[in-house]
Amino acid sequence: MDIPRIELARLPTPLEPLDSLSAHIGGPRIWIKRDDLTDTTASGNKLRKLEFTVARALAEQADLLITVGGVQSNHCRSTAIVASKLGLKCHLILRGSAPEEVDGNLLLDHLVGAGVSFVSNEKYQDMDACVAEVKQQYPELSAYFIPVGASDETGLWGYIECCAELRNDFLEHNISPGYIVSATGSGGTQGGLIIGAEHYYLGANIVAFNVCDDENYFLNKIREDFDLWEKRYKTGLDTTKLPINVIDGYVGPGYAKATAEIFDTIKQVATMEGIILDPVYTGKAFHAMLQEINKGRFADTDDIVFLHTGGIFGNFPQRNEFGFP
Ligand SMILES: Cc1ncc(COP(=O)(O)O)c(C=O)c1O
Repeated sequence: MDIPRIELARLPTPLEPLDSLSAHIGGPRIWIKRDDLTDTTASGNKLRKLEFTVARALAEQADLLITVGGVQSNHCRSTAIVASKLGLKCHLILRGSAPEEVDGNLLLDHLVGAGVSFVSNEKYQDMDACVAEVKQQYPELSAYFIPVGASDETGLWGYIECCAELRNDFLEHNISPGYIVSATGSGGTQGGLIIGAEHYYLGANIVAFNVCDDENYFLNKIREDFDLWEKRYKTGLDTTKLPINVIDGYVGPGYAKATAEIFDTIKQVATMEGIILDPVYTGKAFHAMLQEINKGRFADTDDIVFLHTGGIFGNFPQRNEFGFP
């Protein structure tokens, strides 16, 4: 199927074994799919989705991208950088109040000249009203709204097509991993992987740890995205039969809040493997994966793939949690 796509990410990203850590932990060999390397500044999973989302926006003649997320949203940062690269205006609707210090992703949002509005939790619930307000600020521009995390029927293509790349990775390394593990935050990465694993015959179970909300929320959200996807693209794939595995129980103190153990895991992976996870998504999910390896959940496979979805800039505003001033 020929879906409009523009080239934004540096692909393919490497698939690498974490030999030191795997030997230390015991259990299956852990591989890491380096989607933190899709770019330097626009890096992470969102870039794969934006290849399709922004192509659609351009096809619809948009010259203003409006999107939404937390104050330290990786998705907003990626979108803002992509917009600048393409000569588009970008405006971000960020949930929360303006922080005293501009740091991490937010610093980059400002550097690339994105417009920013901070909205309260309450106001955020009425997203149509928020978007209408932003549009009024740019009467001369034609706006395209990208939902949180670019998780919709179009964004799904990013990780559907990532599965073609994973299939080549598995052939190259001569492995048949039983599981592909990731963080789930708005559902689009997991949803895309589920469809892609089926379409490209990966033979791996897609398992994701939710970093916010709960299992039911993601089961519903991903099913809704599947329905919209089939309605729009009419592929004929029966998505109702596809399993959605969300492992709940690792959100901890809340979205974007991590426990001391998670910061320890980030330090351990950094020290042993030279790979930087983040406290909001990948560190939480990686830590959860290690717990589940210990419990024997993945004992039926020799190889397991952790999808590194990026997020490095989220470490900087949380430097205190690592013990730095
Ligand atoms: C670094 C990182 N990893 C994982 C996720 C989760 O991906 P998704 O929103 O597609 O569920 C996000 C965004 O939400 C993210 O920024």
